[in-house]
Amino acid sequence: MTLIPHSKPSLGPEELRAVTEVIRSGQITAGPVVAQFERGMAAYIGLHGGVAVSSGTVALELALRALGVGHGDNVILPSYVCSAPWLAVQRVGAQARLVDINPTTYNLDPNKVRKARTSRTRAVIVPHMFGLPADLTSLQSMDIPLIEDCAQTLGAMEQGRAVGSVGTLTVCSFYATKLLCTGEGGMVLSNDEALLERVRALREYDQAPSLNAAAGNCKLTDLQAAIGVAQLNQLGEFLDKRSTLAAVYRDSLPPELFTLPVVPAGRTHSYYRFVVRLMKGLQSTDEFTDYLSRLAHRGLQCRKPVFRPLHRYLDLPDFPASDEVDASAISLPIHPSLTEEAVRHAAHILQEELR
Ligand SMILES: Cc1ncc(COP(=O)(O)O)c(C=O)c1O
Repeated sequence: MTLIPHSKPSLGPEELRAVTEVIRSGQITAGPVVAQFERGMAAYIGLHGGVAVSSGTVALELALRALGVGHGDNVILPSYVCSAPWLAVQRVGAQARLVDINPTTYNLDPNKVRKARTSRTRAVIVPHMFGLPADLTSLQSMDIPLIEDCAQTLGAMEQGRAVGSVGTLTVCSFYATKLLCTGEGGMVLSNDEALLERVRALREYDQAPSLNAAAGNCKLTDLQAAIGVAQLNQLGEFLDKRSTLAAVYRDSLPPELFTLPVVPAGRTHSYYRFVVRLMKGLQSTDEFTDYLSRLAHRGLQCRKPVFRPLHRYLDLPDFPASDEVDASAISLPIHPSLTEEAVRHAAHILQEELR
């Protein structure tokens, strides 16, 4: 039985060479390679600059701090996302206002953001879910600072604009299985140099002009950044391969059994995840879990796309779209090292185990 892993970092001779060079240089902590990676990411997205940090979660926290968000403020974020955005809001002492998603795109529903906004709303965290940009045009029209969370989406477009290039600040994650990885790592990017300077002052405490209790040691290392630079050079190829594999899934999965990812007009998808929803049956949690484990027994590793929506952790009512998606969405294997044949095989198993 061949194992088809859900996700896998694409690491090869380029990364090995880059890391070896850093080791030979003797400069392994934050140095010139981190600066090179920051310039490369900013150029890729089309922004003035970036500040590399130790994770995406830290990037979110420092982005909020740079905007001056704190006690008495609130920040809007979706319920259907991992815990990182919520944790970042807690760290800065603000209140998280959860809103529901659009069940078709899995992204924030702008109408619900409009309703949730108060006079104390200082920012909206906008995760672009699974590779699809959120409706930035509608969100931007509300005139609240947007923090674009590009942990799951790079290289996609919204109305002709690169994802990550629209918000006041943008954050990335370079966790091992992301579109571009460094093992762990993150970045805050912006066109606003004053905001970036604040992030720089928070990511390290050494040689600061005064003591700052909010500062920490949140640096990325040159060893990690070397992997990042090598990955950035291949990102175009990685995204092309993901797009090819997504097309194979689209050809192989019957629409009467699976709802395929929707790409609204004016947007493109970078297929960090290929998330489908089951059209019928398996609506009970037990049946759903059982289906996932039957797939796993056949070597096909699928996942719930979000482990647990935030409103469930917090026991909050009235998130019908998040609940509906949570009950029926499955993330299928997709990563650059997967073959088209493996994707066709995965599609076959997915259908067989539904019967
Ligand atoms: C949307 C989103 N934001 C933020 C993060 C946090 O990134 P990290 O794991 O690098 O802290 C993740 C993590 O997977 C994520 O999916």
